[in-house]
Amino acid sequence: MIGSANGTRIGITGLGVHVPERVVTNDDLAQYVDTTDEWIVDRTGIHERRMITEDQALTDIALPAARAALEDAGATPDDIDLLICATVTPDMMFPTASALMANTLGAEKAAAYDLLAGCTGFMYAIAQAYGMIAAGLSRRALVVGGDVLSSILDWTDRSTLVLFGDGAGAVVMEPVDHGGFLGFELGADGGGGVHLQYPGSGSRKFENPESMLRMNGREVYKFATRVMVSSAEAVLAECGRTIDEVDVYVPHQANKRIIDHAVGKLGVPPERTVVNVDRFGNTSSGSIPLALADARTDGRLRDGALVLMTGMGAGLTWGSALIEWTAPSASGGRG
Ligand code: ACO
Repeated sequence: MIGSANGTRIGITGLGVHVPERVVTNDDLAQYVDTTDEWIVDRTGIHERRMITEDQALTDIALPAARAALEDAGATPDDIDLLICATVTPDMMFPTASALMANTLGAEKAAAYDLLAGCTGFMYAIAQAYGMIAAGLSRRALVVGGDVLSSILDWTDRSTLVLFGDGAGAVVMEPVDHGGFLGFELGADGGGGVHLQYPGSGSRKFENPESMLRMNGREVYKFATRVMVSSAEAVLAECGRTIDEVDVYVPHQANKRIIDHAVGKLGVPPERTVVNVDRFGNTSSGSIPLALADARTDGRLRDGALVLMTGMGAGLTWGSALIEWTAPSASGGRG
């Protein structure tokens, strides 16, 4: 699916993120599996990640992110009529994480649902919110992306344990008077889904249900390096823009090697690329909003900046979005 904006200016007017307090280093993980800090840093660029504690679940980290996004937008829960939570690790299948959050926040007017698209979930969710607002079904949406993959990892499998971390982010989306989303490209290849699975997590019965994440790292690596480039190029072409015009490149934070490959193939100067996989690992649906927040902290999300985001993950799925950033001070009222 690909498309450019139809003239309706819809942007991000609030951004908030949250990660668990508990820092887990590579040396910490070496107590569980046969690995080393050197191997992990060399193959992934990851130094540490955050993980929830035994008594926590997704909404414990997603709610603070959602509250921060609302505050950033100057919005109250009552202003929200749509709440989408992209996650593969909800507190439980139902009630959904989004319904639980809408209730806790007091967003009583909001339609609320969870969205499953692996690590690409946040990209799918912002495209959906865009469509709902452009169609006039929603006036102001809260889009949350977050995962606690530590809760579904096999703590004896060194090939997956070292890659992931927990984290969440949220954005408020609504009409803006300048800037806004220019286009989206989303895709899925269920044929490759077998390479990144969570067997036993749904209604399909397995002989040895272990309910843990399973991954063929080499196949996912090949897929990732391909779609991170093709999806970004597709959305740029659709919007009539070139990579030279991109001010901030926000790739999914799966592995520094995958990011470096995309940066090289696309021709993005490294200084325009946001990288925080070293501190957070792969936080799945939390990855892109966490990286956006870092770009803002760095001062890179200035008004009018052209921002390219690309995600990929389980499904297999991928997705890109191109947005002209709307900064609060310059807009004089973003709506
Ligand atoms: N520590 C030490 N050795 C390890 C570890 C580890 N943590 N993990 C694997 N190895 C070993 C392997 O067993 C293998 O040993 P062998 O040669 O004796 O069999 C050796 O290291 C090389 O393994 P490879 O799989 O070839 O290592 P590679 O360089 O491909 O790196 C990695 C593995 C990091 C997983 C890489 O393939 C990768 O990044 N893949 C993409 C993963 C990804 O991004 N997944 C997330 C997708 S998004 C989502 O939706 C969740």
